[in-house]
Amino acid sequence: MKELLLAIRQKAEAELAATCDEATLEEARVRYLGKKGELTAVLRGMGKLTPEERPAVGQLANEVRETIEGLIAERKAALQAVALEKKLKEEKIDVTAPGKKIAVGERHPLAKVEEELCTIFTSMGFDIVEGPEVEYDHYNFEKLNIPKDHPARDTQDTFYITENILLRSQTSPVQVRTMEVQKPPIRIISPGRVYRSDAVDATHSPVFHQLEGLVVDKGITMGDLKGMLEYFAKQLFGADTKLRLRPHHFPFTEPSAEVDVSCFVCGGKGCRVCKGEGWIEILGAGMVHPNVLRGCGIDPEVYSGFAFGLGIERIVMRKYNIDDMRLLYENDLRFLKQF
Ligand code: DAH
Repeated sequence: MKELLLAIRQKAEAELAATCDEATLEEARVRYLGKKGELTAVLRGMGKLTPEERPAVGQLANEVRETIEGLIAERKAALQAVALEKKLKEEKIDVTAPGKKIAVGERHPLAKVEEELCTIFTSMGFDIVEGPEVEYDHYNFEKLNIPKDHPARDTQDTFYITENILLRSQTSPVQVRTMEVQKPPIRIISPGRVYRSDAVDATHSPVFHQLEGLVVDKGITMGDLKGMLEYFAKQLFGADTKLRLRPHHFPFTEPSAEVDVSCFVCGGKGCRVCKGEGWIEILGAGMVHPNVLRGCGIDPEVYSGFAFGLGIERIVMRKYNIDDMRLLYENDLRFLKQF
């Protein structure tokens, strides 16, 4: 039996040393020390020994078991160290490898122009105020002197949430909201999104952007409006820019005008951008209608004011010579990177 034990130890030493991963090491452990293992089988056979033989064989058997257990533990540690080393090598980060480039976007031309407009107006002392895009009929139309049966509603058909709540068709309701809570002097602009029930084509979109302006104080005249707009146009389009006011009609201003600037491409001679006209229409404006002032609790006998509203898309398209509005909404980087 002693020989058998020594033979098992020898075999186990060789076999354990040859294991090259933890799975085969575990297999070997089961084969020697497991319930049906070789060493276990020998220990079971001890009962057949004489009482004199038993202590010596028992001691040797324990020694062999301890040796094998020790070898397994050692081998296991060695294999784990190798595995860790391998893993570290595989996962090593090459800090000198070139990094992945993160694509840097561009400001959208609409955002750029809006910012430019805001800068020009704030430099003239205008405050920027915001109004809701979901608006009451009351503010979008009624208080702007556009009652339910007024034909001006036809050109500003929009999206209705209820009979009295809609997506605003213009930024003009911000005039009313401002005058209701702020007493003159008032000098504000309000840029933002507006909506109309228009089919998409090269010059129409159901969502677009406007910038509203309002000045109310004692003694404000059409001359103030014209002077302010002229300064604005020169800032935006260049010092040679000229201004032209054409009579027009808006329900919330009286008198009203459409405002053109001399073409900043040809200087007024006529070209493709101004379609041979020499002039480009950029906004609507006028003196705030007494009904509108009165409706907001401002006495038209004491105060007067002017208002104007411009389409930001239109200015962007003119400024960058873009002939199709849809390009502004497609988010094609090849297009957007040009500005
Ligand atoms: N709200 C008008 C529109 O969408 C533009 C406009 C015209 C605004 C004259 C004004 C104004 O404030 O005075 O067509």
